Amino acid sequence: MLQAQNTVPVYLDPSKPLEVRVENALSLMTMEEKVALCHAQSKFSSKGVQRLGITEVWMSDGPHGVREEIQWDNWGNAKFTNDSCTAFPALTCLAATFNPELSLNYGKAIGEEARYRKKEVLLGPGVNIYRTPLNGRNFEYLGEDPYLSSKMVVPYIHGVQQNGVAACVKHFALNNQEQWRGNIDVELSDRALYEIYLPAFKAAVTEGKAWAIMGSYNKFRGQHCCHNDLLLNKILKTDWKFDGAVITDWGGAHNDKEAALNGLDIEMGTGTDGLTTSSQSSYDFYHLANPFLKALKNGEVSTDVLNDKARRVLRLIFRTNMNPARPWGSFVTPEHSKVANQVAKEGIVLLKNDQQILPLDVKAYKKILVVGENATRKMTLGGGSSELKAKYEISPLQGVKNTFGQQSEIKYAMGYASGGSAYGRELPSKLNADSLRNQAIRMAKEADLVLYFGGLNKNYLQDCEGGDRTQYDLPFDQNKLLAELAKVNKKVVVVLISGNAVAMPWINQVPAILQAWYPGSESGNAIASVLSGETNPSGKLPFSFGVKLNDYGANSFDKLCFPGDGTREVYKEDILVGYRWFDAKNIAPLFPFGYGLSYTTFQFGKATVDKTKYTKNDVVKLSFTLTNTGTTTGAEVAQVYIQDKVSSVMRPVKELKGFSKIKLGVGESRVVNMELPVSEWAFYDEAGKQWKVEPGQFIIHLGSSSRDIKQQIPVTIE
Ligand code: GLC
Repeated sequence: MLQAQNTVPVYLDPSKPLEVRVENALSLMTMEEKVALCHAQSKFSSKGVQRLGITEVWMSDGPHGVREEIQWDNWGNAKFTNDSCTAFPALTCLAATFNPELSLNYGKAIGEEARYRKKEVLLGPGVNIYRTPLNGRNFEYLGEDPYLSSKMVVPYIHGVQQNGVAACVKHFALNNQEQWRGNIDVELSDRALYEIYLPAFKAAVTEGKAWAIMGSYNKFRGQHCCHNDLLLNKILKTDWKFDGAVITDWGGAHNDKEAALNGLDIEMGTGTDGLTTSSQSSYDFYHLANPFLKALKNGEVSTDVLNDKARRVLRLIFRTNMNPARPWGSFVTPEHSKVANQVAKEGIVLLKNDQQILPLDVKAYKKILVVGENATRKMTLGGGSSELKAKYEISPLQGVKNTFGQQSEIKYAMGYASGGSAYGRELPSKLNADSLRNQAIRMAKEADLVLYFGGLNKNYLQDCEGGDRTQYDLPFDQNKLLAELAKVNKKVVVVLISGNAVAMPWINQVPAILQAWYPGSESGNAIASVLSGETNPSGKLPFSFGVKLNDYGANSFDKLCFPGDGTREVYKEDILVGYRWFDAKNIAPLFPFGYGLSYTTFQFGKATVDKTKYTKNDVVKLSFTLTNTGTTTGAEVAQVYIQDKVSSVMRPVKELKGFSKIKLGVGESRVVNMELPVSEWAFYDEAGKQWKVEPGQFIIHLGSSSRDIKQQIPVTIE
């Protein structure tokens, strides 16, 4: 019998180095096969090379759970019955934990689910900066500060990619609103670009080693970001040495020549011509399909351009589906629920707690009234592409019943109602608002305690893709309902389920407020755990809560500054985003960045640094003792902000450059050591096009929020 050929082709041999496999595969492919790698074959997949056994690339949303299977060529669901996932908390909740280790666990768990669902690319995480509280997609991102976003996104990517699944960081870049997202041309200074909007993407690429990145829909300095020479060829692929694949947002490519030459690798979208509407479903009309092939054949575009794209896509495939050593993943496991539960519990932020009404002493409350549509509404549905078909979602009402139902009588009044959770349409409720409100007020008179669950929801024009909020106030007349409830009951605990800051005109009428985000499948369990004291809240705000909308930089100029004039937008607040603006303008926030209360108290001991003079290449060693001076175990987030006292350019009063989450038992003290690289204190020098640390005096602000500074330590940079 003939001895079977046992020579495995090099590109199929996993023992060969990645680049060797890539070059070998490339050498065997035709031009048509290489071009086919560069564009969609279906709604969420692109071709491999069938002739060579090189597999397809399957992609799936989203940042906080693996989306249900979608149809081959439309946005409808594929009606699978085995794709109900674990819904992890939305990323603002993850950011609020200020806990990078949790972010690693989160990435690993969601990566296991994506792997199990046979996806090569997870379309997330999103790291666009929180510039205005009106942005419909803030709930999907990691807040207003570039340092926090950078530190939290890197471990998430490591966790995902451990599973042989590519994280696809998005939306690169400057997609900080939904209105006119498809074409708005963003203008801003180089300092704002490099100091605020790029750092999290740079960390994702250079430290997270992300294997994919998604271009954003908007324009930047005149070119669409999905094929933007400065962003993709210069900054991403040259300066940051990104060796992965650039994928469009869906329908984000608009121009044959730019798509070919400006750093795009895989064009995804809906329909035929790369735009989002089409009459036929052939993908051969995409900019990186026939037009690209034609330009290559007639010599308009060099085959070097094609080979670079093909290499990047092959690298993506060999790192994922054709890496036989990658793990097998797992789906909807108790471990994943545990991660979702832990992130939710650690992300919840205690904003107010007068008379220590929390944690609840259940013996004191025989009759508890739960009010609010958000106590029962499914929050994993809606919101746009990050929507999830969750295996389960414990509602806040269910959580309260599970935890307090034995000792207390739990009643429910909806109180207010919104419309359906529709993407692209706002559907007003059919219920009568007055009767809902009057019923809740009547029942509140009889209750010992009211637990109010309100906030926003995943409706269009709320926390949802495709549109921005139209007001800073709570929607659905909640302010009126809350004011009325507080008149008839002095014990109204407010729990906000939302991904954005809101105005709180009723703040002085209620004793306690929790910011609970969108906690996902474990929502009710996590919230009840904090209300009961089983969990001591340790979350800190990843973005500032202003008193009113124009407390925010983006919202204190003109229309051109936000949301733009329909064609262009100018970020006039420049580098002063979030607390940087509040500090510069001496505006007192309702609740500052980095703020969050605990059921216990902490004492910061005197902080010391190892030297008084440093060079820009030094690392400052900061040390202090932290003590739990209260009555229950808890965790504090020590935050370090730096201030450049004398600089040749305008610099923020303080910038976050370090944080550390420390868990302490009652009476326990611990020495906390933090390393602060002086190089990270630089500003971006526009003239010299480089980062610069100017010599002189700096102040290290050590505190438990951006406004609660315990100590200021002066240091000199030589
Ligand atoms: C959407 C979103 C993007 C998502 C993609 C696929 O328009 O902007 O975040 O991953 O299309 O659903």
